Amino acid sequence: MAMLPLLAAPLILSPALTATPAFAAEVPPDDVEFADEGVMSSLTGKPGDPSVGAEVFASRKQGNCLACHANGDLAELPFHGNVGPPLDGVADRYEEPFLRAIVADAKQIFTEETVMPGFYTLKVGHDVAEQFKGKTILSAQEVEDVVAYLTTLKEE
Ligand code: HEC
Repeated sequence: MAMLPLLAAPLILSPALTATPAFAAEVPPDDVEFADEGVMSSLTGKPGDPSVGAEVFASRKQGNCLACHANGDLAELPFHGNVGPPLDGVADRYEEPFLRAIVADAKQIFTEETVMPGFYTLKVGHDVAEQFKGKTILSAQEVEDVVAYLTTLKEE
């Protein structure tokens, strides 16, 4: 019986700890785990929306992926860059966890020198404008939306 007060203490605390369930499932940028196969589960605990992801991908203010990557699926949009490889059929080449890892932090997958930005990391280097310090380029949900979109880019 002497154990009971100890066991009860966490139960009393728990309502306060669970007061923000909407954010509980979101993985903070510093806690993203990169396994060999990539980042295994959704950063938000929810699947992404591919149609929102296509907009984030194309938006010059968000992903701006077209600045570096050609993508035949968005052929109607002007200017596709060629700094990175074309993303046609990218879902035939990589599984979803690997795509998530590339988008979250390309340096973890390629080399430290890659010019591809890390879209969900706080380790973005020293030459970062003050307004971007402590922020990620994309939110966790935007990463998931982009990843969901990338998984639709199949040719086979
Ligand atoms: C500043 C240029 C740049 C931007 C912006 C950029 N990337 Fe990349 N990306 C690259 C480069 C370069 C590579 C090739 C890896 C390397 O050599 O560093 C790459 C590789 C990739 C790959 C692997 C492709 C393959 O077939 O191997 C994917 C997927 C990818 N990028 C997705 C994205 C998405 C999605 C965005 C936008 C959210 C994006 N990239 C924005 C430069 C960029």
